[in-house]
Amino acid sequence: MEAEYGTILLASGQPKTVEEGQKTMSKGRYIILAVLCGTVALAVGVIIGWFSKSSLTEEDRVALDKFRALVRGADETVGNTIMDEIDSERIRENLRELTKKPHMAGTAPDHEMAELIRQTWLDNGLDEARLVPYDFLLSYPPMGEMGPNNTAVTVDGTDFEFEDTRTAHIEPELQGDPDAPQFFYAFSPPGNPVGELVFANYGRPQDFEYLEKNASINCTGKIAIVKYGREGRGTKATNAAAVGAVGIIIYPDPADVNVPGGQVYPDGWFLPGTGVERGSTLSDPGEPLTPGYPATDYAYRKPLGDVDVFPPIPILPISYNDAQEYLLRLSGEEVPSGWNGSLPITYRLGPGFTDDWAAREVRINVYTNTTIQRVYNVIGMIKGRVEPDRYVMFGNHYDAWVQGAIDDTSSTAISLELTRVMGNLLKEEKWRPRRSVVFAAWGAEEFGLFGSMEYVEQYAKLLGERLVTYVNMDVGVAGNYSLAVGASPSLRNAIFEATKRIPSPHNDPDKTVYDDWAQGEETPYIGGITLSTDHSSFALRVGTPVMTMAYDYDKTGYPTGTSYPVYHTGYDNMDVMERFVDPDFSVHRALARTAGELLRYLSDEVLLPLEWEQYVPVLTASLNATVTDYGTAFEEQGISLDGLASAIQNFSDAAAEFKNVMDRIDKDNPIQARIVNDQLVAVNKAFIDTNRQHVFFKHVLFSPAYCTLGTSNSFPGIVDAMCGGPQGEGWEEVKKQVAAISFTIQSAADVLNDVDSIAGPK
Ligand SMILES: *[C@@H]1O[C@H](CO)[C@@H](O)[C@H](O)[C@H]1NC(C)=O
Ligand SMILES: *[C@@H]1O[C@H](CO)[C@@H](O)[C@H](O)[C@H]1NC(C)=O
Ligand SMILES: *[C@@H]1O[C@H](CO)[C@@H](O)[C@H](O)[C@H]1NC(C)=O
Ligand SMILES: *[C@@H]1O[C@H](CO)[C@@H](O)[C@H](O)[C@H]1NC(C)=O
Ligand SMILES: *[C@@H]1O[C@H](CO)[C@@H](O)[C@H](O)[C@H]1NC(C)=O
Ligand SMILES: *[C@@H]1O[C@H](CO)[C@@H](O)[C@H](O)[C@H]1NC(C)=O
Ligand SMILES: *[C@@H]1O[C@H](CO)[C@@H](O)[C@H](O)[C@H]1NC(C)=O
Ligand SMILES: *[C@@H]1O[C@H](CO)[C@@H](O)[C@H](O)[C@H]1NC(C)=O
Ligand SMILES: [Zn+2]
Repeated sequence: MEAEYGTILLASGQPKTVEEGQKTMSKGRYIILAVLCGTVALAVGVIIGWFSKSSLTEEDRVALDKFRALVRGADETVGNTIMDEIDSERIRENLRELTKKPHMAGTAPDHEMAELIRQTWLDNGLDEARLVPYDFLLSYPPMGEMGPNNTAVTVDGTDFEFEDTRTAHIEPELQGDPDAPQFFYAFSPPGNPVGELVFANYGRPQDFEYLEKNASINCTGKIAIVKYGREGRGTKATNAAAVGAVGIIIYPDPADVNVPGGQVYPDGWFLPGTGVERGSTLSDPGEPLTPGYPATDYAYRKPLGDVDVFPPIPILPISYNDAQEYLLRLSGEEVPSGWNGSLPITYRLGPGFTDDWAAREVRINVYTNTTIQRVYNVIGMIKGRVEPDRYVMFGNHYDAWVQGAIDDTSSTAISLELTRVMGNLLKEEKWRPRRSVVFAAWGAEEFGLFGSMEYVEQYAKLLGERLVTYVNMDVGVAGNYSLAVGASPSLRNAIFEATKRIPSPHNDPDKTVYDDWAQGEETPYIGGITLSTDHSSFALRVGTPVMTMAYDYDKTGYPTGTSYPVYHTGYDNMDVMERFVDPDFSVHRALARTAGELLRYLSDEVLLPLEWEQYVPVLTASLNATVTDYGTAFEEQGISLDGLASAIQNFSDAAAEFKNVMDRIDKDNPIQARIVNDQLVAVNKAFIDTNRQHVFFKHVLFSPAYCTLGTSNSFPGIVDAMCGGPQGEGWEEVKKQVAAISFTIQSAADVLNDVDSIAGPK
């Protein structure tokens, strides 16, 4: 039918496009295009009229269907189907299967899991699922029956029972499990240092300063024992080494991981005196031998001796039961205010022991084996219907220190269920997303984000061009209280919209995941981008809009600064999940639904639901912080912030003008949609400055600042230059940074501006 065809042509906006587009097109091109369109329309009209008076030919119908497919918007009923099909019992069974064995990266069970994920994704109906191999430098304790079986602290001496004073090397429940790693910290140098024990609180610089200056304890040659938390594991070792300590022991004080009166496992989910947190000690994430490049088989690998991210002295975790045996026998002064933990002892500083242990020293035995191991990322995909070259990615890590039911196998269990539900829709030909949906299961996250970082290094150019959003999950289900989210500013609204559509996991039909999350506030809290999980390299190296999410517990009354009680221990297991965290798996279901809805929304909307204006308050706040914290000093040095203010003003203007463009956009014109979609993604990526010194902290807003002293919210490059970060310090460096940041922000404005921004400012 001619009328129908004509209507669709109008609805498709082609004539409107030409009119609206004329601002940016040369007049000549406009005329040619108009003539061309007119000719084509006329020809089509004639052909249609010729062959059929009342209906379209088969050929026309096919052409029409193809065109409609290009402009077809998201089908929200698919969202409901995904929501209905997600089955909590299947997620439970996935988790049960996946937590049967400890699956530390690079071990046999870890490889089996990668293969299981790949095969399940294929069986579930994904178009592709492959293993992407890498060779990573990993670090292991003596494993199972092999190895010396004494990664432990011993009180050394000639006249005492060795066995009685040696600390445990594994949770008793895991004794004899060939796949369970003993208590260890990855990348600790091996060694057997001996020394008197001193108690150094959290092992921060100020703690050692107190010992040396206020308490006059010379830490040279000592072994430090410190509480877990407040400072990175590796940093504690660096701080201890700086005052001459030869080894360091970390234990989780109940005051820092449990709540008073909280039942410990197996009666509750709090940490018992036999559990120990494992973890990595690298000072920077990423595979240590191949910085900047993927750890492929042909990669150049730094000699081990040149690696500077390892802790300088042996470092070992022990349980609080064992720590108590040492701490209660320490001699010396009582600890100062703020150092006490909650063990039933008098905390003393040392050095050395009292009574029948007097004159005894402590020996740490660390037998870590640093070795290059094969590790896989599993990557699966659903190819997009209209824009297969635009990817929406969902990922989580599948490795765990032990069984890792919470961290992060809960997310893997969800990922398997999501692919089943989406795969069924594909099989039944009920749905195929507009853009490609890519699933990732990352290897070796626990060792320092290796899988995701090496992947980003490997595919940085593809991802920079094509990845529109990365959605991460880690520590997926740690509680039933509320969603916890960290995200790029541009994803705020998309997350709000998606979570408003998901029923709360609690038995309240009127509440949504959004309501649980907002907790009565006007809008829920969204955190920033941290280095704690796999989204960071996407955000910091490529500039992809990213988010990470989890369902968390109510932290009221919990100690601050540490994770959930059984984090990284042998008690993060299926039993804890089923009895204390999510007995009916309704939280898993709610999180799977949230992820499913986000993926559907981001992959299916004709216009990407990404915001750009959200960068304006971020930029303004950073500028304010710069003025507040450094304004006077900069004035004295003659450092002007005018360029920076101008770039931010330009960005703000460009953002306002882009809103006009978006308001006028013809959603039915696929080319116009693609143009603005590309801009919506590109503006995020424009905040990347590849000249930044650090190998993957390339983002001028979200890269971590090296200096943790000062709490400035200024731009990280400026903060670093002010306090001696990796880019160097001093006023010349400050000037360089201010200019580089100003330029980078202006680049983001240029990306949002109309196509004539290529010709420079008007
Ligand atoms: C360590 O040694 C003890 C006894 O020497 C043995 O019972 C235990 O199975 C060993 N554990 C591991 C993990 O090798
Ligand atoms: C340690 O000594 C310094 C300088 O004498 C003093 O200012 C500080 O308050 C002392 N710290 C504590 C925790 O007593
Ligand atoms: C600390 O002890 C070491 C080794 O015993 C010694 O070389 C150093 O001079 C001592 N430092 C102080 C400040 O006494
Ligand atoms: C630490 O706890 C003990 C009791 O265990 C108490 O006597 C002491 O005063 C506390 N010290 C500080 C500084 O809070
Ligand atoms: C180190 O680990 C690798 C891989 O598990 C193993 O093949 C090798 O025997 C181990 N070396 C030592 C000294 O334990
Ligand atoms: C969340 O879990 C806790 C601990 O298991 C339980 O006491 C509480 O009732 C649960 N809350 C909701 C809203 O289901
Ligand atoms: C920045 O400072 C200006 C002027 O002091 C103030 O009006 C504005 O609200 C501040 N903006 C932010 C985001 O803090
Ligand atoms: C901001 O835009 C104006 C007008 O286009 C231009 O003159 C100025 O150089 C821009 N500022 C920066 C930092 O590029
Ligand atoms: Zn994790």
